[in-house]
Amino acid sequence: MSVSASAPGKLVLLGEHAVVYGYPCIVSAIEARVRVSVRVLGEDQVTLRVPGLPEPFMMNVEGVLRASRFPPAVRFVAFAVRRFWEHVGETFGVEVATGGQALVSYGRGEERGLSQDAFGVSYGLGSSSAVTVATLQALAEVTRQEMDLGGIFRLGHEVVLAAQEGLSSGFDVAAATYGGTLYYVTGGKVIEPLAVGELPLVVGYTGVKADTTEYIKRVARRRQKFPLLVETILESIAALVDEAKEALGREDFARVGRLMNLNQGWLQALGVSTEELDSLIHAARLAGAYGAKLSGAGGGDCMIALVDEARRSEVERAIEESGLPGARVVRIRTGAEGVRIEG
Ligand code: PMV
Repeated sequence: MSVSASAPGKLVLLGEHAVVYGYPCIVSAIEARVRVSVRVLGEDQVTLRVPGLPEPFMMNVEGVLRASRFPPAVRFVAFAVRRFWEHVGETFGVEVATGGQALVSYGRGEERGLSQDAFGVSYGLGSSSAVTVATLQALAEVTRQEMDLGGIFRLGHEVVLAAQEGLSSGFDVAAATYGGTLYYVTGGKVIEPLAVGELPLVVGYTGVKADTTEYIKRVARRRQKFPLLVETILESIAALVDEAKEALGREDFARVGRLMNLNQGWLQALGVSTEELDSLIHAARLAGAYGAKLSGAGGGDCMIALVDEARRSEVERAIEESGLPGARVVRIRTGAEGVRIEG
């Protein structure tokens, strides 16, 4: 029997990096889902079919148990299978197939709405945490293992920590598990759903793929060199995240936008913004966005702008026409449902 589960990606609105050090962030699950199908096999074989790998990855159970690393394309799925075996106290052969829902995006001179890319690693929108959570949920279902969302979140966070050199706050795993828009503190100390509707966001991809762990390490180095200064920055980010939480509750997007701009200033001070991010952020602000900032670890990937709907087209056009080669607007809806079994 085959069982499928799906989980959403994420966009971090405010508080990235600070959330690695015990402070809060605000994250929203997005309408871009990863779907994972799982089938238990009779033999001691693990077969992983993922987009981007022409041939399935195959290894026997013993090999998966012992491996210290896996190819990047299957890393999160393989660690999820292994962690699940440990959790239930037995191993079994399994076939896992993953696939990402299509996302609409457009760049300069392209007709809007025509280009569709499978939601995957390219944009840094949380496909790794989504695939982890969906794999765990599908495994729990196919083996009839009782696991509530708290259990899925805990195992999922452990998987991401194992796959990312121990560097992860777990906010993306929480978004994939619970969905909605969350106020989140490191390691899941607080996971509070916020009563906000869909957020009026424009998402711009820089065309540059970022390396999350590299940028987490960069902040760690700066924190070692300037402990007091960096702690002050992280505290300031935490304070603005708390203000933004209040403002979001009142749908005071003008204020949230200003807080996003402040957050971007601190992220620049931490050394994680880039020329490409800065230029898209600047273009979005000039076109009338309430505020704009990078989203995620920095170094590339995506920026976000909070907009008045009446201004959306201007802001989107400003990003498309920023002159940055590879810049794209990615259509994203926030507040998506968390992990679920698919019929
Ligand atoms: O680059 P992303 O989208 O995976 O976000 C990383 C956010 C950090 O706060 C830098 C790391 C984390 O795990 O919270």
